[in-house]
Amino acid sequence: MRTLIANFKMNKTPSQTKDYLISLLSRFESGKVDLTLCLPYTSLAIANLLCQGRDIRLGAQNLSDEEEGKNTGEISSAMLKDSGVDFVLIGHSERRKKFKEDFRAINRKIKLALKNGLGVILCIGESLAERNTLKTYETLKDQIELALKGLYENELERIVIAYEPIWAIGTGKTPTKNEIEKSVAEIRRVVGDDFSQNASQTVKVVYGGSIDSKNIRQFLSIKNLDGFLVGGACLDPNEFLKIISLI
Ligand code: PGA
Repeated sequence: MRTLIANFKMNKTPSQTKDYLISLLSRFESGKVDLTLCLPYTSLAIANLLCQGRDIRLGAQNLSDEEEGKNTGEISSAMLKDSGVDFVLIGHSERRKKFKEDFRAINRKIKLALKNGLGVILCIGESLAERNTLKTYETLKDQIELALKGLYENELERIVIAYEPIWAIGTGKTPTKNEIEKSVAEIRRVVGDDFSQNASQTVKVVYGGSIDSKNIRQFLSIKNLDGFLVGGACLDPNEFLKIISLI
């Protein structure tokens, strides 16, 4: 079954999320897709209520890199777990850029998430400048190695690597099918070198960046790609259901 992850980013109030979910859930069929909705913190409670008994997992979009205590405004992995969250996005390029999140913090966040029983969606991807100077693979390798440093091989079972080229996020531009296929192969090669051949085959890898119902078809046959991460196009339930029906 394909993995599909929705990233709401900073969109929808709890009331708007409620309306959205009522619309989505009335037409969502379980068993077709492995769906995770990454919502703003404030929408998690209503989503947890409405998604009870449905085949949908909840995700958060960030967590603190510390365990508890004097971190005003932060949310810990234990708080997320207790709020019904199964997954957390870590290292999204918007956080790395705007909030200066570095890979030491990302590595700490991954370890805390795993420690508290959360799955991790680790976002990686090259910038336009890195792409233009042919540094895509080097960037991906560095990002994977820094983020996953010190992890045990069996912990990779709870990690999804989301390949999201920064220049493709929210721009309407995507790499070609061939380019995504090569990057996915490179990601698996790095995991293979650092962990094991088995881990390189079993770790989940998804693509994200300007996916919508019009362009997704061309990417469905990419080898060794487990699914997709959708931002803008997940916000309208009709468009998102169309994507779900296609994959
Ligand atoms: P997009 O966002 O689908 O709007 O490009 C994807 C993401 O940022 O995760």
